[in-house]
Amino acid sequence: LENGLARTPPMGWMPFERFRCLTDCAQFPRDCISERLFKRTADLLVSEGYAALGYKYLIIDDCWTEERRDNQTGKLLAHRERFPSGLHALASYIHARGLKFGLYHDIGTETCMFHGPGAQGHFQLDADTFADWQVDYVKLDGCYADELNLDKAYPYFGQALNSTGRSMVYSCSWPFYQEKPNYSLIAKHCNLWRFSQDVRDSYHSITYIMDHYRHRQHILQKHAGPGHWNDPDMLVLGNFRLSYDASRLQIAIWAVLAAPLIMTNDLETVRPEIKALLQNRDIIAVNQDELGIAGGCVATPENMEVWLRPIAPINNAGKHSYAIAIVNRGGLHECPLCPQIFEFTLSQLNLSNTMGYSVTNLFNRNDDLGLFMPSDKFSTRINPEGVTFYKFKSMDWY
Ligand code: DGJ
Repeated sequence: LENGLARTPPMGWMPFERFRCLTDCAQFPRDCISERLFKRTADLLVSEGYAALGYKYLIIDDCWTEERRDNQTGKLLAHRERFPSGLHALASYIHARGLKFGLYHDIGTETCMFHGPGAQGHFQLDADTFADWQVDYVKLDGCYADELNLDKAYPYFGQALNSTGRSMVYSCSWPFYQEKPNYSLIAKHCNLWRFSQDVRDSYHSITYIMDHYRHRQHILQKHAGPGHWNDPDMLVLGNFRLSYDASRLQIAIWAVLAAPLIMTNDLETVRPEIKALLQNRDIIAVNQDELGIAGGCVATPENMEVWLRPIAPINNAGKHSYAIAIVNRGGLHECPLCPQIFEFTLSQLNLSNTMGYSVTNLFNRNDDLGLFMPSDKFSTRINPEGVTFYKFKSMDWY
């Protein structure tokens, strides 16, 4: 969507995978969906250094409303007990910290999990309410809606947002609810769109989403670019179930895909080594690369996968640099869960710059591997269900 927003993939935080639809604040005051959680997270985004690296959008997911609209005005109401100050005040709190405010809604008759009021029949009223509340980002889910109407309804809601005059990033769940999504239409009307299942806190879920992308990448890759991105869902690293290697895998692949980096975690308890992954500047720079070209999987030797994304700088002969992630999916017959070596000649991956590439390890910027020519061999050893990730910077004549 060309609305001037999301020129690079949005970065931020959303509660859903971690905090779900927990509404019992009496028993779980720290973890329930309430203004307390969002204020705490706003503070931590800033104090823990995430905001300065680009994690700016603080987005409320499902379960923030009252069960019904206001019966006089028909407007949506934030839950009175869990959001006692109201969303306008919460937006101010968030904005005062230099962050942006996102809000969930559903295009159908009810929201997916809470069964709160959906937008159906109230598009303009709800868009206006969001604008009044100073919302900067709208996540529009697609439950309880007629699949056949989504191709009309999502653009209509987008027009309603646009007509408010307030700039709001428009995140659509539209293709996720369709058999055969029309991605050209979706990319025209949305800044980002969910194309796969809800992410879960497991290696299996990460690889499921990677497979889903890989099988459709000939379509998905070409629709990504500044203002319009494929959304493989939230970053789950920092929670319970991902190993350190699987955490590396998610952040590396999400960078290759040019995916939104929306964390779902408790920022107070993220372990230091995972925080370092979430705050790795070199990986964030790949994710936010100015060219905005989405990468994909270019080879699947044995049980491994090579994921590659063209990035800046482009040298004066027009040769791109690349971010290359090599994944060991495990399961090799002779040793299913051992580290594995992968060797390739640069030219095999079409890295043909005759001036060569200066190679660095994106997980460790002090690990400078030197200059490689197209005919040189590059070797890497990858942990089981893990990844190695390198930048191949295209060199120039001087
Ligand atoms: C389905 C979406 O895909 C999730 O990300 C989340 O927003 C839930 N609905 C909330 O009900």
